[in-house]
This record gives sequence, C-alpha cells and structure tokens, in this order.
Amino acid sequence: MAFVRVMDAQDVVEGRPALAVVGDIEVAVFRVGDQLFAIDDLCSHAQASLSEGTQYDYLVECPRHGGRFDIRTGKARHFPAVSPVQSFPVKVEDNGVFIDVDD
Ligand code: FES
Repeated sequence: MAFVRVMDAQDVVEGRPALAVVGDIEVAVFRVGDQLFAIDDLCSHAQASLSEGTQYDYLVECPRHGGRFDIRTGKARHFPAVSPVQSFPVKVEDNGVFIDVDD
C-alpha cells in the first residue's frame, strides 16, 4: 500500500472534479464538504473522463452519455453505465491529497 501525493487539498473544490495522475492511472478526485473521494477517471461505459463530468453530491454524471457513478464506491447508479469503476483510498495530510492506487 503506497499513498502518493497528487495535489494540494485546496485544489479539490466541491462541484468541480479534479484529475490526478498516479503512475499510469488517471484518477478523478471529488470533494463533498471535508471529505475527498477518488475513482478511476475512465468511464466504464466508453471513453470519457469522469473528472470532466458533473457532480451532484455523491454522484458524478459522465459527460458523454449521462451515466452516473457513486463517487464513494465507484458503483454505477444510472444507465447506460452498468459496470463499476474502481475507487481508491484517499487521505489528506499536511494540506496534501494522497491517493493509493495499489490497494
Ligand atoms: S461514456 Fe460514460 S456513460 Fe457512456
């Protein structure tokens, strides 16, 4: 298990998903209040970036076809997305956002 610092905590603004790159994995990062969440940036339906989607509290809507995912778990919540995306452990330390893509 290896957490990697990807950005400053203030760079993740609620309602404006952020894109982080950890190794060769692109991760979408979200804020709800003081909580941060990280899921695979690539939509499980087709080629689209979830960090470019629209956030509704704990859901993100894919910008391409409107599928929705729970940002806490990565589970698909709205058609045409049916398969989950991976979620990753995320923590804040020393004002930095750390993500573990190996978990
Ligand atoms: S590419 Fe995301 S719902 Fe189709």
